[in-house]
This record gives sequence, C-alpha cells and structure tokens, in this order.
Amino acid sequence: MANTGKVAVVTGSNRGIGRDVVRQLAAKGYRMVLTARDAADGEKAAAELRKAGGDIRAHDLDVQSDASCRALAAWVKAEYGQVDVLVNNAGVLLERVYGADGRPISEDDGLDVDIGVVSRILDTNTLGALRMIQALAPVMSKGSRIINLSSRMGQFGMLGPNMVGYRMSKTALNSLTACLAPALEKKGIGIFAMCPGWVRTDMGSPAAAKSVDQGADTAVWLASEAPNPKSGGFYTERKEIPW
Ligand SMILES: NC(=O)c1ccc[n+]([C@@H]2O[C@H](COP(=O)([O-])OP(=O)(O)OC[C@H]3O[C@@H](n4cnc5c(N)ncnc54)[C@H](OP(=O)(O)O)[C@@H]3O)[C@@H](O)[C@H]2O)c1
Repeated sequence: MANTGKVAVVTGSNRGIGRDVVRQLAAKGYRMVLTARDAADGEKAAAELRKAGGDIRAHDLDVQSDASCRALAAWVKAEYGQVDVLVNNAGVLLERVYGADGRPISEDDGLDVDIGVVSRILDTNTLGALRMIQALAPVMSKGSRIINLSSRMGQFGMLGPNMVGYRMSKTALNSLTACLAPALEKKGIGIFAMCPGWVRTDMGSPAAAKSVDQGADTAVWLASEAPNPKSGGFYTERKEIPW
C-alpha cells in the first residue's frame, strides 16, 4: 500500500465501526491513530490490524474528558505535526438492552429515562465530538476533513418515542456539524455528518443488517475519495440526505 503521508485520527476505534474505519483508511495508505478509552484495548486492536500492514499506532482517549482530548492533540502534534482526517466515531446508546438473539428486550422511553443517562449520552456523542474538533482543528490545514458518526435515529423525519437521549444526541450532532461548517470553511476544513446504517456491532446487535465494513464505507469515502462533498451536510450510502 502506498503511504499517502496523511494522518487520520478515529475516536472509539478499538472495536466496531471505528475499528473498521481504521482498517480501511490504513489500507488506503493513511497514517492511522487508533484511539481507545482503555490503552490495552487500543494496543491490542492496533496490533491485530497491523498484521495486514499499514501504519497504525494506538493512543488512549476518553472523549468525555477535556484533558484527555487535549493530551491526544498534543501527542499527535508532537508525533505527526498535523492531522488530515478526524473521524468522531465514539458513541454510546445506553437506553436499550439486547437479548441473546440480538433483539431488544428492554428500553426506556423519554418519560422514564434517567436524566443522568441522557446526560452521559449527550456528553459522549455530542460534546465529545465538539471537544475533539476544538482540540484538533488547530493542527488541521486546508483540505482536511472531519466526519461525525451520526444516525438517522436523529433525523427530523425519523424521530420517535424510544431511545430519546440517543436520538437527541444525534440530532444535536447534526446541528453541531452544520453550525461549525462556516468557521471550518474559513480554514479550508470540511465537516460532514453521516449515518452508517444498522450495523452488526456491540451497539447495533447481531440482528443488524450491515457488516462493519459496509457500515464504515461512507465515513471512509467522505474522509478520502468523495470529490468535493458539500461541507455541513448529512450523508448515508455515499449520498446527501435531509436533516
Ligand atoms: N451500530 C449501528 O447500527 C449504528 C447505527 C447508527 C450510528 N452508529 C454510530 O456509529 C458509531 C460507532 O458505533 P458502533 O456500533 O461501532 O458502537 P460500539 O461497537 O458500541 O463501539 C463504540 C466505541 O465507542 C467507544 N466509546 C464509548 N464511549 C467513549 C468515550 N467516552 N471515549 C472514547 N471512546 C468511547 C467504545 O469504547 P469502549 O470499548 O471503551 O467502550 C467503542 O470503541 C457511534 O457513534 C454510533 O452512535 C452506529
């Protein structure tokens, strides 16, 4: 694989869709920073992925912590000098419990969900992305791209009575994407929200329709190949969709 010299950081990439974004971008020659809350999990995932070749290093990162986001940014700046791609993938659902067959067995609705749970979801899924953008934008230059892993669960036409905290977090992540686009545009940085579809991960369950490589596809496309995608837009299946 030809090394592009480009550096990509993926949050929450020790497992699930994030891990496959790292695998796919490494195969395209990106220098990958795989991040994980648990440093040992991150090192293990990076070592497994390196068996296929590729420049992949692990670093610990908890997107709920300002200090952790700042420490990651300082390390990346010292080691690489720049970041070309940031994929804000780290996310939690927390409001749904699955049975052994992968089907949901319990779920809170908005009238009983614990406010502390909603707060943790928003802090990770929405504010975590904002923390990372604020930490890394100063080391991103013209032509860089930021991809936010959102969900159609937060799309206005798809809002419903279950998983209220999760839906709010993704609607707010979409809003963050559109709100930051003009300021990032001035620096020549593109920002995109995307939905991976329903994917077989710990979050998506074994019953989900897509494999992780299919789920990662649009994020990888936006990060690498998409020709001039509209910054501040919402995408799925390599196409722009309404908010
Ligand atoms: N799977 C789906 O069907 C689906 C559909 C639509 C959107 N999405 C979105 O796609 C993204 C990835 O989902 P997934 O299905 O791959 O989920 P997953 O398998 O549950 O993996 C989530 C990842 O996020 C990490 N994470 C959680 N909290 C974190 C924190 N505070 N700091 C850093 N990392 C943290 C987890 O780390 P630990 O291992 O330490 O817990 C894990 O690496 C999420 O944003 C999700 O909302 C998924």
